[in-house]
Amino acid sequence: MSSHLLLGQTLSFIADPFTLPWQDCVRHERRGGVLIRDGLIADVGPGDALRAANPEVAVTDYGDALITAGFVDAHMHYPQTGMIASWGKRLIDWLNSYTFPEEMRLGDPAYAAETAATTLDLALAHGTTSLCSFCTIHSHSVDAFFGAAEARGMRTIAGRTAMDRNAPDGLRDDAQSAYDESAALLAKWHGRGRAVYAITPRFSPTSTREQLEALGALWAEHPDALMQTHLSEQVDEVAWVRELYPEARDYLDTYEQTGLLGERGLYGHAIHLEPREIDRLADVGAAVVHCPTSNTFIGSGLFDMAGLKARGISVGLATDTGGGSSFSMLRTMAAAYEIGQLRGAALHPAQLMWLATEGSAKALHLEGVIGHLGAGAEADLAVIDLASTPAIAQRAARAEAFWELLFPTIMMGDDRAIRAVWVNGAEVPR
Ligand code: GUN
Ligand code: ZN
Repeated sequence: MSSHLLLGQTLSFIADPFTLPWQDCVRHERRGGVLIRDGLIADVGPGDALRAANPEVAVTDYGDALITAGFVDAHMHYPQTGMIASWGKRLIDWLNSYTFPEEMRLGDPAYAAETAATTLDLALAHGTTSLCSFCTIHSHSVDAFFGAAEARGMRTIAGRTAMDRNAPDGLRDDAQSAYDESAALLAKWHGRGRAVYAITPRFSPTSTREQLEALGALWAEHPDALMQTHLSEQVDEVAWVRELYPEARDYLDTYEQTGLLGERGLYGHAIHLEPREIDRLADVGAAVVHCPTSNTFIGSGLFDMAGLKARGISVGLATDTGGGSSFSMLRTMAAAYEIGQLRGAALHPAQLMWLATEGSAKALHLEGVIGHLGAGAEADLAVIDLASTPAIAQRAARAEAFWELLFPTIMMGDDRAIRAVWVNGAEVPR
């Protein structure tokens, strides 16, 4: 048995701080410990007591640094790593000008493998231990991503992106090939090691109704798979969906009518929603994913966190790279805070940290498995330096309480704040 005890400040959640006062949801230990055994978290508690009870175990003492669950990025596009921060366009022009040309380059399996490796290494450097990614229409792009994750021991979720219209030559499939290739990849990867397959129609504008139906049929055959797509990100996109699907009651209905609305569905962005769509998302227990740096970068709009959480809808947090402008879930939490402020609701740091760990894990139906600093969870951890730059350090030095110490790192931190990362019970070499 391989065991290890990590010491430092610890932060765990026992409940969702959007549903109860945050004080009732968190456990913070000023001098805490996390006992890892065989890739799992065996115990979390006061550090000295854990040390006394496990005298034989190797110890790493992180001092004042904060040990949390590793961050979980619930929606991103690894193929877009090479074109992150591309200037001046809104969604549809941005897709055509920057995204599709870059995704075309992943037709080369060597480039796909290189991009997957770069993305996962960047994610780890930023304290993100699990990602849910779109791939491209190329099956080898899925093999590249899951293969790179397997080599790093990471739990990841991904799927082959399907598009059979409104995309350039070389990036289109058809209903049958999307079904066949997705089915083959699902059979190959779903449940292999730490991999989880997500059936992945890009969004209604790039799929015919026939293609959505084919993927809906595949999901019905494999109800334990996840399904990820985009929903109501920009006003122009919503209008376009209305033109393309005149028979649909609204955007979500294009998925609902084709078997693509369900509890294990993940709907990225979900900003410009009709009341009926909110009702249906709540009825079926589907999850939406908030991508705040993307929503400001591409100019999409202000996600209604308070309104959707009040309806009991599961919400994950995500970078949406390369529409998002950062690989950092710290920066992503900061953007979620800023969007909350613009909507008149200041998210508490406990809520932000919950979204970036437990909330994303819950959206991915991996609650208690990842994103959780508690016994039985997989041992994916981030160790965060709460004084990683001079600007943060001078503010942290004045903090009188833990949240006041943590918040400057949420607002101003980046990969420099990540002191160490553990994946599957082993420290990631840096
Ligand atoms: N909608 C459809 N495809 C995409 C994408 O790649 N990024 C974002 N942000 N929105 C999308
Ligand atoms: Zn996206």
